[in-house]
Amino acid sequence: MFNLVLFGPPGSGKGTHAIRIKEKYNLFHFSTGEYLRAEINNKTELGLRAKEFINKGNLVPDDLVFEIIESLIEKHKGVNGFILDGFPRTIIQAEQLDKAQTKINESVSMVLSLVVDEDELMKRLIKRGEETGRHDDNEAIIKRRFDVYNRQTSPLIEYYKNQDKYYEIYGLGSVDSIFGRITNIIDAYFANIK
Ligand code: AP5
Ligand code: MG
Repeated sequence: MFNLVLFGPPGSGKGTHAIRIKEKYNLFHFSTGEYLRAEINNKTELGLRAKEFINKGNLVPDDLVFEIIESLIEKHKGVNGFILDGFPRTIIQAEQLDKAQTKINESVSMVLSLVVDEDELMKRLIKRGEETGRHDDNEAIIKRRFDVYNRQTSPLIEYYKNQDKYYEIYGLGSVDSIFGRITNIIDAYFANIK
């Protein structure tokens, strides 16, 4: 099974590229952020709990998120592989994922990290906020999301470098050119394991 972690700060293009990667490689795409926003829209108990964190730009507690991931993996055992978009986001989540994967003889195959500077990210997210009304896409909350990414999520870079699974992709330019960089890395991975 090919288990891809799509990594990067808010607005770096995880969702944009996940859709394309999913089609090209026939993988199951799961965005924790999208899942949680759907729960909020449906006013479920989980949504109500998650809302207070998301709307402030903070992370939802690890255990809550991990329960979602665990049941996802369990439910979709037959798939070719997963694209995890926006998960893991803390060292604890990465450790929880490693443990759960080991139990079923699986592991994270690679971590693709989209690298984009904060000025560009801010521009993208402000624009999306104006176009779609996504609640956490306003300047103050975006800054908070950057801060949370830098403090809680970026330590995962070292974590996955230590496992030899970390690949950086320059995330500026046209979506097509960035997608080309992504597929080069994934194709090289498949060529190597053959
Ligand atoms: P989540 O939904 O994951 O948000 P995020 O990480 O902040 O990232 P975004 O979805 O905003 O950006 P993206 O990288 O997907 O970029 P996109 O392709 O959309 O998480 C939201 C919240 O949920 C978190 O803050 C947290 O509260 C909670 N949460 C989620 N996962 C969690 C977890 N594991 N643990 C705890 N809490 C969790 O692109 C952005 C914009 O840029 C789009 O408008 C796009 O069209 C545009 N764009 C894309 N590529 C380009 C390009 N090359 N050039 C110009 N524009 C581009
Ligand atoms: Mg996204």
